[in-house]
Amino acid sequence: MFAAMGALGLAPTATAATPAFSAPSASDFHLTGRKAAKVVILGGGVAGLVSAYELGKAGYDCTILEPRSRTGGRNFTARAGTEQTDLFGNSQTARFSEGQYMNCGPARLAQWMVTLDYCRELGVPIEVFTNTNADAYIYNESSGMTPGNPVRYRTAKADTYGYVSELLAKATDKGALDQQLTAADQERLLAFLEDWGSIGAKADGFGYTGSSNRGFSTYPGAAGTPGTELAPVPDVSSVFASGVGRYFSFEFEFDQAMLMFQPVGGMDQIPRALTRAVGAQKVKLGCQATGITETGSGVEVSYTDAAGRSRAVTADYCIAAMPPHLLAKLPHNLGSAVQAGLASITPASASKIGLEYRSRWWETDHRIYGGITETDLDLTHIWHPSYGFHGERGVMIGYYNYDTDADRYGRMTPAQREARAVSLGERIYGSKYRTELASSFSQSWRFIPHLEGAWHNLPDNSPDAAVLKPLVEPAGRVLFAGDWLSYMDAWQHGAILSARKAVTALHSRALKS
Ligand code: ALA
Repeated sequence: MFAAMGALGLAPTATAATPAFSAPSASDFHLTGRKAAKVVILGGGVAGLVSAYELGKAGYDCTILEPRSRTGGRNFTARAGTEQTDLFGNSQTARFSEGQYMNCGPARLAQWMVTLDYCRELGVPIEVFTNTNADAYIYNESSGMTPGNPVRYRTAKADTYGYVSELLAKATDKGALDQQLTAADQERLLAFLEDWGSIGAKADGFGYTGSSNRGFSTYPGAAGTPGTELAPVPDVSSVFASGVGRYFSFEFEFDQAMLMFQPVGGMDQIPRALTRAVGAQKVKLGCQATGITETGSGVEVSYTDAAGRSRAVTADYCIAAMPPHLLAKLPHNLGSAVQAGLASITPASASKIGLEYRSRWWETDHRIYGGITETDLDLTHIWHPSYGFHGERGVMIGYYNYDTDADRYGRMTPAQREARAVSLGERIYGSKYRTELASSFSQSWRFIPHLEGAWHNLPDNSPDAAVLKPLVEPAGRVLFAGDWLSYMDAWQHGAILSARKAVTALHSRALKS
C-alpha cells in the first residue's frame, strides 16, 4: 500500500528519483517459451559491463569485445605497474608505491548516483571523497596573488559572504528592497545576513570587519592563548577583485555537493567487480571491432583479436557501448541516420597528473586533509588525496584540467608535464612540492587509444536532440549505450542508466521476437 502510494507520489519513496528498472530475469522467458538470446557488446567500459551484467541475470549469452588490455574504459586507476601508451607513443609505467593510486578518470560519486547501488550490490566498499575543504586553497595569479600567498577557502568565503551581507543589509536598510519585501521579511533577511556574513549590527552600519571564520594566525589554545585572528581583512574592492568567489558555486552543484564517495582502493574496483560478476571469460580483451553488419536475423561484428587476426562473431543483438566518435569510424550498414547521430557527437578533453610524494607535507605543513585547491593557472584543479590520511606517502593530483589546457599537456612528454606541474604547484605550496616528489603518472584522455576523449559535446547539449533519436531508439538489432546517451555525460551514473535503458529495450524485443 505504502509502495503504491509512493508510486503515485503520495508518499516518500527511496527510489522515486531514479527511473524504475527491473533487471531481466530468466523467468521472463517462461511464458513465451523463448530462450535468452546471444548478445555481442562493443566496449568493456561501464556501460558495456553493466549491459552484460544485467542481461546475464536473465541468462543472455553475452560476449564483450574490448580493445584495451583491461575493462573499465575511462574508469581507469593507475597504481604500481600500470602501463599506458598514448597516441604519440609516450609509454609510462606507474611507479607509485604499494597502496598508492590515482583515478585517471572518474573519481567521485554523489550519494544519489546509481553507481553507489552497484557498489552495494557488488560488495565494493566505499569511503568519503572530500570534494570541498575549508582549508584547501584558492590561488588566482591573474588577479594579483603572489607565489606563496594562496588564500584558504574559509578566509575567501568569510570575506566574500561578509561583504555581500554588508552590502545587502545596507541596501535593505536604505529601503532598496521595500517593493520586494515586507518589513517583517526585511527583518528576517537582516537576521540571516548578520549570521551568514558575520556582520556588525545596524548601529555599526552592518559593517564587515572580519571574524574567526577567516581563520587564525595563532590558533586559540590553552588559557593565556586566546588566538589571533588572521589579519588584515582586505577591503571590499580587493575581495571581489581577487576573483575568489568564482569557485564557490561548485559546492552547491547537484552532482558535486558533499558528501561524495569513492571506492576504497581505487575507482576501478567497480569495473573489476562487474567483470568478475559477468565472468571474465565473456570479455575478449585486445579485441578491436572493425565492422557491424545487421543481417535481418542477427548481427555480425568483425574484429581484430589480440594476436592481430581478423575474426567475426554473430549474435542476435549488439549493444554498441564504445565512444561515439570512434563508433562513427566503423564501417556499418545501420543507415545514414545512425551515422549522422554518431557523427554529431564530438569528444571533449581532460587530463590529470598524479604526483606521488615521499611525505604527506600538505597534511603536516598545511593542515589540508583532502579536498581541492582551485587555481587560475593551467593546472586548474589540484586534488589532495582522500585516502591514506597520516600515511607515509600520498598521491596528489597535480592538475585536473580540460579543453585546450588538457590537450596542451597531453602533447607534452610525461617528463615535461611533470616539470610544468611541479613548477606551477610550487608557487602555491612551496619547495616541498618539488623536493618531496617521488614519481608521477599523467595522461590526457583525448590521446588515449580506443577512448580518445574524456567526455562529449552533444548536439543541442542533449541526448534527446532529434539527430540522436536513431541511437536512443534504434530500429534494428544494434542498440547503443554510454554516458553520451544520458543527461549525465561524464558520469558513470549516466553510462549505467543508458545501459539499463538499452537492456530494457533489448529484453522487451527479445521477449516479443
Ligand atoms: N564527472 C567529472 C568530474 O566530476 C566531469 O570531474
